[in-house]
Amino acid sequence: MKILLLLGLVAVALCETTRFVGDKVIRLTPANDEQVTIIKELGQKVKVDFWKPDSPDLVTIGMGVDIHVPAAQLDMVFTILQQSSMEAKVMFENLQEAVEDQMDNKRVTKAHDYTKYNSWATINDWAISITSANSNLISRQVIGNTYEGRPMHLLTIGKKTGSAKPAVFMDCGFHAREWITHAFCQWFVNEAVSTYGSDPEMTNLLDRMDFLVLPVFNIDGYEYTWSKDRMWRKTRSKNSGTTCIGTDPNRNFDAGWCTTGASSNPCSETYCGSSPESEVESKNLANFIRTNKSIIKAYLTVHSYSQLLLFPYSYKYGLAADHSELLSVSQGAIAALRTLYGTKYTSGPGATTIYPAAGGSDDWAYDLGVKYSYTFELRDEGRYGFLLPESQIKPTCEETMLAVKYIASYVLNNL
Ligand code: ARG
Ligand code: ZN
Repeated sequence: MKILLLLGLVAVALCETTRFVGDKVIRLTPANDEQVTIIKELGQKVKVDFWKPDSPDLVTIGMGVDIHVPAAQLDMVFTILQQSSMEAKVMFENLQEAVEDQMDNKRVTKAHDYTKYNSWATINDWAISITSANSNLISRQVIGNTYEGRPMHLLTIGKKTGSAKPAVFMDCGFHAREWITHAFCQWFVNEAVSTYGSDPEMTNLLDRMDFLVLPVFNIDGYEYTWSKDRMWRKTRSKNSGTTCIGTDPNRNFDAGWCTTGASSNPCSETYCGSSPESEVESKNLANFIRTNKSIIKAYLTVHSYSQLLLFPYSYKYGLAADHSELLSVSQGAIAALRTLYGTKYTSGPGATTIYPAAGGSDDWAYDLGVKYSYTFELRDEGRYGFLLPESQIKPTCEETMLAVKYIASYVLNNL
C-alpha cells in the first residue's frame, strides 16, 4: 500500500514537468508559397511549437524556420514534409537531452552563480543582496507586481550625484524561455559595479549616467519554465472564454497594436492581449517609462535567439525618422561585439530584418520619444536555440557587454 502511494507520488512529480523525450527540433526552409502554406498548417492544425519565427503566421519564403515537434506528432509531420519535398534538417534528435545538457555547469550549488541559469527565487534574493552590497552604486525599487504577485525589481546603477542623470533603460526576460537574457541582465549589473573604478569607459558611464535594469520582466512565465514547461513564452494571465493561458508581452504595447505579425487568438504564441497594456507587467513597465521619460535616453530590450540587433520599426515598413543614426549606432555596436569572439550579428529595422510584428516595446518606446530604442536577439543562430548551454553564458555576456557599452557611450556623447 505504502509503495503504491509512493509510486503515485513519483508519477505525479514526473508529470509536473513537461518532458521532451523523443521530441525533435527541425529546421525547414520553404522554397515556395505551397511550402509556406504547409508550414503554416503544421502550426495551425498539428500545433507544433514554433521556435523561429515565433508564430506560423510570420513564415515567408526562404526563411529558416525552426519547429519543435512532439514525439507523438513526428510520423505525421515527416510524412507531410516528404510529400512536399521540403528541405528539412534535424537540429535536435531528442529535445529532452538538450534540456538536460543546457545545465552543463556542474558546480553543485543552489547559490546564485553568474555562469549558471538561476531560478526566480535565487534572482529575487540576488537583486536584494547585490543592492545592499553596493549601496554606493545601486538602488532598488519595485515598479509593480506581476499577475501572480511577484515583485518587479528595478535596479538603478550609477554613481549617486544627488541630481537627475540621463539614463539607459534595459530589460531582460520578456519571453520566458529565453533564459540567456535573464543571465545577461544579472551579468551586466555585476560587471558594471565590479569594473567601476578600473575600466575607464564603465567608470565614465556610471559617473555621468544611470542604467535602469529590469532583470526579469515576465517573472511568472520564467517561473513556469522552471516548474512546468521549459518552452513557455508568454505571460501567465487567464484569458476569458478559453482555457488558453497568457499573452505575448512583446505584442501587447501600444504601437500599431495587433495590426500585423500578432494574433487576436488567445491560444496563439503571439496573442496580442485583450487591449494594449492588458498585461500588468506591460502596464508597470510602460508607466515607469512614461513617468521617467525626460531622463530615459535609450531603451534596450533583450531577447534570444538569432544574433540580431533590431530597431524601429517593426509595426510598419516605413523607416524611423532617425533611421540612419540608429543604423550606424547599431553597426558600431555589433562591430564592437564581434571583436571579442568573432560572433556575427546582423542589424536593421525589425520589419525588414526579421518580420513585421506590431505591439513591441521597442517601437512603443521610440514613438514615445526614446530615440535609441533597440532589441537584442542574443546567441545563438539555432544550434542550441533557447537551450543555450551554461558554458556559453560567459562568452555571450562578455561580448554583449561591448555592444551595450558602445550604445551607452554613444548616447552619452550625443546628448
Ligand atoms: N523576436 C522578437 C519578437 O518577436 C523580435 C522583436 C522585434 N521588435 C518588434 N517590435 N517586433 O518579439
Ligand atoms: Zn523574445
